Amino acid sequence: MTYRSWQKSDNAEIEKLEKENFPDPWNGNMLDDCFTLDNFFGFVAVDDQDMVVGYIGCVYAADQADVMNVCVKDEYRRKGIAKTLFDLTAERLKDLNVKTLFLEVRRSNFGAISLYEKLGFLKVGERKNYYQNTEDAIIYALSL
Ligand SMILES: CC(C)(COP(=O)(O)OP(=O)(O)OC[C@H]1O[C@@H](n2cnc3c(N)ncnc32)[C@H](O)[C@@H]1OP(=O)(O)O)[C@@H](O)C(=O)NCCC(=O)NCCS
Repeated sequence: MTYRSWQKSDNAEIEKLEKENFPDPWNGNMLDDCFTLDNFFGFVAVDDQDMVVGYIGCVYAADQADVMNVCVKDEYRRKGIAKTLFDLTAERLKDLNVKTLFLEVRRSNFGAISLYEKLGFLKVGERKNYYQNTEDAIIYALSL
């Protein structure tokens, strides 16, 4: 597995992964818009065919940052890819003097919640009916 910065040219593959993995996927325009921001960066995991199999995107401002999206292709899960993507993100954020990384997750997303708690994220809040007015978001934060 190879890890590198998320480039705009990865967006077509990432759009497919979004559709496969989320009920409310980001489309190509939304992904392209990230690259108009000065404070966006991300990382991708690519296989030996240079296909994107995992990605994380993040925005930062002052001493805080938010994970915009994170996903690993089904057949590549439980191999430490998401953990590596988070480790790379945390390293970059520390260089930028960011102190806290936030994210939101569906209450029912037990796999992702297990990952975040293993990485040291702590629950700091909830947003009622955040997802299409049907499911709560739990807000997690990691001190960097
Ligand atoms: C959540 C997700 C990103 C995890 O990616 P991953 O590459 O499989 O995660 P990792 O292999 O780095 O997991 C590291 C640790 O997190 C925990 N973990 C990860 N996925 C888990 C799951 N489904 N169930 C229980 N624990 C899990 C485990 O402790 C795991 O270590 P282990 O495999 O040695 O037990 C992936 O399942 C995914 O893309 N899901 C669909 C999209 C999604 O829900 N994204 C998050 C939106 S908020």
